[in-house]
Amino acid sequence: MSQVAKVQAIFDTWAQNGRADGMERGHGPTAIQAFKKLELRPGQNYLDIGCGNGYTVRWAANKDRAEDVWGIDVAPEMIALARRMSADSAPRANFFAGEFPSETLPENHFDAVFSMEVFYYFPSVDDGLSAVQGLLKPGGLFTCVVDYYQENAASHSWPEDTGVAMTLWSADQWREGFARAGLEVVEQSRLFPTDNAQSSPDWKQSEGSLMTLGRKSS
Ligand SMILES: C[S@@+](CC[C@H](N)C(=O)[O-])C[C@H]1O[C@@H](n2cnc3c(N)ncnc32)[C@H](O)[C@@H]1O
Repeated sequence: MSQVAKVQAIFDTWAQNGRADGMERGHGPTAIQAFKKLELRPGQNYLDIGCGNGYTVRWAANKDRAEDVWGIDVAPEMIALARRMSADSAPRANFFAGEFPSETLPENHFDAVFSMEVFYYFPSVDDGLSAVQGLLKPGGLFTCVVDYYQENAASHSWPEDTGVAMTLWSADQWREGFARAGLEVVEQSRLFPTDNAQSSPDWKQSEGSLMTLGRKSS
């Protein structure tokens, strides 16, 4: 089975057995912090890459009244779930089942692009970052959050645990990757689910999620 077929199969199952909603609850506290960095304004265009059940697309459509909101995910069952969950609250949202970055999306269209826990699944992270650069309008922002990264030792077993190949980059490598793609890094930080002291045995609280925020030059 190809890498992408494996990823698709895992997340199709998660969409059907309730784990997608568990991801929304688990990622939500850090995802909202990364989402706010985009400073989305009414009338802007928004894309979530690997959108899962589409929760940030609904934030963009509802809270921030973005104009054109899109979510793409390689797992068709995730997209079916995202459509069902958004039918009442964000009926204008565009959800696409397809593989990023090979799926064709509108170039120079998005003011803000978000991705949570997705980019290390790509066969080439560099290709994914270059594609984001092409999709952003000049001056547009991209926030990329990962929990699988070099400094988070607790995550290193995930490829073996899941049988899926993943790209393990350090914080510096993410910065360098953004720069290679033509995205100026405006912030890089660790995001934590709560403000408690970071001495917790849970890596989510001790190491946190790695967020890199980049801007396409104007
Ligand atoms: C760990 S989940 C995160 C989902 C969502 N971002 C969240 O925070 O709940 C990773 C998601 O990325 C999607 N994905 C992985 N590789 C992808 C690719 N090449 N193109 C589009 N989606 C992809 C998976 O199907 C899955 O829904």
